Amino acid sequence: AAPRHLTSIADLSPAEFTKLVLNASHYKTAVKSGQTPKSLSNSLAGQTVAMMFNKRSTRTRVSTEAAVTMMGGHPMFLGKDDIQLGVNESLRDTSTIISSMTSCMVARVGAHSDITGLAEYSSVPVINALSEDFHPLQTIADFQTITEALLNRSPSDSSLGLEGIKVAWVGDCNNVLFDLAIGCVKMGVNIGVASPTGYGIPDRMRNVILAAGSQSPAPGKLQETTIPEEAVKDAAVIVTDTWISMGQEAESQARLKAFAGYQVTNELATRGGAKPGWKFMHCLPRHPEEVDDEVFYGPRSLVFDEGENRLWAAVAALEAFVVNKGKIL
Ligand code: CP
Ligand code: NVA
Repeated sequence: AAPRHLTSIADLSPAEFTKLVLNASHYKTAVKSGQTPKSLSNSLAGQTVAMMFNKRSTRTRVSTEAAVTMMGGHPMFLGKDDIQLGVNESLRDTSTIISSMTSCMVARVGAHSDITGLAEYSSVPVINALSEDFHPLQTIADFQTITEALLNRSPSDSSLGLEGIKVAWVGDCNNVLFDLAIGCVKMGVNIGVASPTGYGIPDRMRNVILAAGSQSPAPGKLQETTIPEEAVKDAAVIVTDTWISMGQEAESQARLKAFAGYQVTNELATRGGAKPGWKFMHCLPRHPEEVDDEVFYGPRSLVFDEGENRLWAAVAALEAFVVNKGKIL
């Protein structure tokens, strides 16, 4: 049978996404209390996970290598100068060969079509480790972080108990936002997005985000604005990311200018009327222009829990897609 891939949160039903988040949280609690389940520590024994990264990474690389190791497998890191791909060999040939010798390809690429291209020719699951369009492993960790921090109601098999809360995104509409927004719409979480004119959500992506609600009883609403105060109004969580993603370095000057006034600060949250207990999240790496030190290192910040949760998100994703062959149990 054709393998099942994780290219975006859009690939998951609401119940599957919920399960991945709860499994991540479950393994975090179990392992941290010294009770690593045997079923986890042997689950990738004798198996190799290829990690094909053509961009830098701290969290995604370390979390994936640590997760595979925890599960008894071998993570094989293949940076852009290590393999023939991109220089001397096609995506098709590379995918066919690497998938014939390994159990999974975890890939960080530029164009999202490189992820779908790898998937098309792979005999093993492909997990997207960041493309220009999506970052599903980040979104799993983000929902884990929100669920652990807010816990509105007890999560159940099909719900994280987050329905009706609002997440605000202030800044650039990028890969991290797109999967986060898909997750929000799917889980009944409202999302307000503020970005400068010209840096909003592209039409093709808005369609993907809105379509993510089709299986949800009460999909989360998407609000788009150029005014940061409007997005943060009533928000329980304020999220941002760099204004200059990898590959956009040549646009740095124009972007720094366009995003002036979009920095996340306590003053912005107060002016806009965020919820009194609002929390802050950022996938990292962080630069001071998009969020000041007071918020980033302050008591509302969940950023280091969020970073750590990448490990547990990787464990949950590898278990579902590699060990359980795409059945999310
Ligand atoms: N958040 C994230 O993906 O970080 P890295 O680029 O360091 O992997
Ligand atoms: N938006 C950022 C995320 C890095 C994890 C980028 O694509 O560079």
